[in-house]
Amino acid sequence: TIPLRIGIAGLGTVGAGVVQLLAENRDLISRRAGRPIEIVAVNARDRAKGRGVDLSPYRWQDDAAAMAQADDIDVVVELIGGADGLAVALARKSLAAGKGFVTANKAMVAHHGAELATAAEKAGAALKYEAAVAGGIPVIKALGGGAAANEIVSLFGILNGTCNYILTEMETKGAPFADVLKDAQALGYAEADPTFDIDGIDAAHKLAILASLAFGTALDFDHVETRGIREIEKVDIERAAALGYRVRLVGEARLIDGRLVQRVHPVLVPLAHPLAKVTGSLNAVVADGNFVGRLTFEGAGAGAGPTASAVVADLIDIARGETAPAFGIPAASLKRVETGDHEDS
Ligand code: NDP
Ligand code: HSE
Repeated sequence: TIPLRIGIAGLGTVGAGVVQLLAENRDLISRRAGRPIEIVAVNARDRAKGRGVDLSPYRWQDDAAAMAQADDIDVVVELIGGADGLAVALARKSLAAGKGFVTANKAMVAHHGAELATAAEKAGAALKYEAAVAGGIPVIKALGGGAAANEIVSLFGILNGTCNYILTEMETKGAPFADVLKDAQALGYAEADPTFDIDGIDAAHKLAILASLAFGTALDFDHVETRGIREIEKVDIERAAALGYRVRLVGEARLIDGRLVQRVHPVLVPLAHPLAKVTGSLNAVVADGNFVGRLTFEGAGAGAGPTASAVVADLIDIARGETAPAFGIPAASLKRVETGDHEDS
């Protein structure tokens, strides 16, 4: 059997998790994929850094961009981060060279997803980003595959593990915001720049991606109305609890009369509501389909293991030869729609 040969750019929380998962579950993954998935080359900024995984079997590639040209690499896995810069340059070069491209980078997909999907279609290459939304929850595969026969007109959920962890710890332990944020960083949940988490931008990236996939509309990150949790204080959480509510950072997207409404904001959720029970770094996504009805997904939204699980699931898909368009339909068919603000709806 011919192995699927991969190069991994980025060996931080997620990259090291992917190396570990591919090694630990090697035989199982090989059986499920129908062939072995073999790491050929790896890259990060600092070659000397200890990463808790054995990198000695793999070639150290000094320049990540060279992976896009390497004859012995079939798929490039980008786990660096950042909407622009190295990540998107690597995506463009890899797809142009006809290589598969797997990423966990929601900032890049939210900003450049349509362009990259077009490049992938042109090259007949796979572009996959399951890990970019809701960590380990396979919601991209569910909306793009299992629920693909449905018209979906609304979805909502908790899309940022760091914020949910902060809100939960503030409520249950009375811990100060800044201390809990530090814990979230130490646990590997937060973005390299955590303002992306606490200001709602990361959740907005994910919401824009989900909306495009679910509604068949063009990505429209710029029109996500976004408010984060920076201003939430312990007293807000205590008052909410006294009234029977919990504070959650919720993303919601709806298509109403052809107008797209996308919002990320802190919401008072009644204690009996399913989103109130989503605690710690968990995420949840709820989507309403016109034949399947309500679908609810819940699971780990951040961290090495869950995110690696989603990355490797994409690699298994590619090893099996799956080449569905990145947003479920060809990028050129994604509808451009008006943006509705919520007051209109
Ligand atoms: P980390 O900061 O832990 O890791 C980033 C990696 O990229 C590091 O290995 C770093 O190298 C490398 N890197 C950064 N800049 C460069 C550069 N200029 N050239 C070469 N290598 C570079 O991030 P995460 O692993 O947490 O996140 C990676 C991606 O996954 C991001 O897009 C993030 O949004 C996404 N993601 C993260 C999740 C999580 O729970 N952490 C969950 C879902 C998605 P070095 O180690 O040498 O510094
Ligand atoms: N920083 C992100 C979060 C990582 O906390 O949800 C997962 O995408």
